[in-house]
Formats: sequence, structure tokens, C-alpha cells
Amino acid sequence: MKALVLSGGSGTRLRPFSYSMPKQLIPIANKPVLQHVLENISDLGVTEIGIIVGDRLPQISAVLGDGSELGVKITYIPQEKPLGLAHCVSLARPFLGNDDFVMYLGDNMLTGGVQRIAEEFAAGRPAAQIVVQKVADPCAFGVAELDAEGRVERLVEKPKEPRSDLALAGVYFFTPAIHAAVDAIEPSARGELEITDAIQWLVTEGADVRASEYDGYWKDTGRVEDVLECNRTLLDDLKPHAAGQVDENSTLVGPVVVEEGARVVRSRIVGPAVIATGTVITDSYIGPYTSIGKDCVLSDTHIEQSIVLDGATVSEVRGLHHSLIGRSAAVVPAENDTVHHRLVVGDHTRVEVAA
Ligand code: TTP
Repeated sequence: MKALVLSGGSGTRLRPFSYSMPKQLIPIANKPVLQHVLENISDLGVTEIGIIVGDRLPQISAVLGDGSELGVKITYIPQEKPLGLAHCVSLARPFLGNDDFVMYLGDNMLTGGVQRIAEEFAAGRPAAQIVVQKVADPCAFGVAELDAEGRVERLVEKPKEPRSDLALAGVYFFTPAIHAAVDAIEPSARGELEITDAIQWLVTEGADVRASEYDGYWKDTGRVEDVLECNRTLLDDLKPHAAGQVDENSTLVGPVVVEEGARVVRSRIVGPAVIATGTVITDSYIGPYTSIGKDCVLSDTHIEQSIVLDGATVSEVRGLHHSLIGRSAAVVPAENDTVHHRLVVGDHTRVEVAA
């Protein structure tokens, strides 16, 4: 079996971050989403991985390389425009050949792994096996309607009146039967070749299409709130480890990781929290569910439930929470001014200030 990971797309919901980086490289517990995805695939014993990339290939390959560090072999497959998930399958056809494959959305996290479902697929080899999970708000998802045996009868994209609460969870197993389906469908109203249409085509043609319920933690990290929530969930399993320098005037409470090369001075860190290498924390309070990336400088700051990306500076700011601070961003006091806020804010950025 091979794997196809979709890491193109426009990422409009994750602006402004997606202006400068592929959303699949947003760190969750200080590791890019895409790396979590690849580890998950490698756990299935799959080593040949094709990755669909848009115009961010250099950034993605700088992080993942040829995959050898993760014990896998990566083939990058460029997609000029995000023309849909089924378009990705069609582009990847030369890579996929006649092999079965697992298709994984590169911004989706299924932390429990899909080993059991992969085994079900390998045993039964239906034309397609989709991964579904019960959700409270099916209107926001693609949903699957099943018969009593778990066979898919119908797929509906964002139904207004849902007849099922089983959402498609971003991982699909296919035999080569999917290629005829992808060739047969037309672009949808939004101009994309939809994978749901391709799977629906298989159902209509009488092919065996099955669904397996996944009961672990699943998050589509498409929006800032999702990224923060996913970060909190992953940090819940953090194993404490203080390899960096923590001075005698600092305290670490609960599961805290201070990586080698990080420095904590006169500060209090309440875990779960992770501080990456090269970062210096001085006179600050880092509260639970916070990830601080590499080479950041935090001084005289209180922050919790947040993610700070590499190279950012935060100083003299109290009460920061549920924040996502971009690479090399600076959140600092106004010079010689204790009254006014001065904001230099990028496009589609959201700043919420205490009024
Ligand atoms: P989405 O999150 O549905 O699409 P998007 O990236 O365009 O996001 P937004 O709605 O915020 O603009 O895509 C799911 C995954 O598939 C994601 O990792 C991007 C990837 N993808 C491709 O690689 N090629 C495509 O043509 C599309 C539509 C998505």
C-alpha cells in the first residue's frame, strides 16, 4: 500500500499564517501537523508516500526532505492550482500506479491512529473505505449515510438537513477502482473535483464502499481555534523533560519540556507547556497549554493556552491567552507611550484587545 498526503490548498481559513507558510507546517506541540501525519502513516507500515504540494514545495521539503529521517520515501507531486481532492488523486496516478493507497488530508490530525481501519480495508478490500466520526454539527461536514452493515449508501457535502451525523474524517482507503471514478466526475459548483463525488460515483455503480467509525481524537486544523484546541489535546500527553537551563529562581510545575538550548530565568512555567531550543524566557509566567517555538524571546510576559512560533518576541505583555503568534512577530510595549496602542497588523489578521 502507498499513501497520498494532500498538502496543497489555499488555506484561506488560516490567514494570515497561510500567506507565508503552508498551513500543514503549523506546529502542534512544537511539531508540524504534516510531520504528525507522516508519523501516523509510517505507523501503518506504509513507506512510499506521495505528497501533493502547491507553491510551497521549498518550505515543505526543507522540513521533510526525502523522508529518510522519518523512515519513509517521499515523492513530491506539484499541483498548480487547488482544483479539488479528487484532482489530487488524478495528478498522483503515475505515482500510485495500480496500488491500493491511503489518502490523508495533510491538515488533519487523528491522534489515535487508523491501524484498525487499515487492517479492515486490507482484509475486505472494498473499492473504498472511508473513515467517519460522529459529530454534533453534521451540517459543517461531508457526511456519510450508511446501511445496517456499514455500507455507504450516500455521501452529502455539508447537508442542510442531515440524515446522518457521521462526518468524513480526512482519511480514505482506496483500491485503484477510484481512478475510473475520478475520470468520470465533473467539477462541482465551486469548480473542484470533489472526492465525495468520486466515491458517490462508485456507490452508484454498485461498488463496495464501506465506512469505519474512528473513535479517537480527530481535528481538522483548518482554523486558528482548531489549531489551539489540537495543541491543548496533544500537550495533555506531554512527558516532562528539562534539558535546557532553568535557573534557581525559576519554577516548573506539572509536565513541562524545556529543550536543550532553551533558557528559563526568574520565571514560572505551569505545564503542560513546551519551550523549544534557542528560546529565552525571562521574568515571565508561562501558563498551561502553551507551546513556544525555537529562538523566541519572552520577557516580563504572562501567556497561557497559546502557541508562539519560531523567532517571535513578546515583552511586557500581561494576560495573553488563546493566542497564536507568528514567526518572528513582535508583541512589545509602545515606545515612550503608556496610553496608546500602536498596531502594525498584517492582512486578515485578528487582534483582540482588552477594552
Ligand atoms: P481544505 O482544507 O478543504 O482546503 P483549503 O486548503 O483550500 O482550505 P481553506 O478552506 O481554508 O481555503 O483541504 C484539505 C486538505 O487538502 C488540505 O491539507 C489542503 C489539501 N488540498 C490540496 O492539496 N489540493 C486541493 O486541491 C485542495 C482543495 C486541498
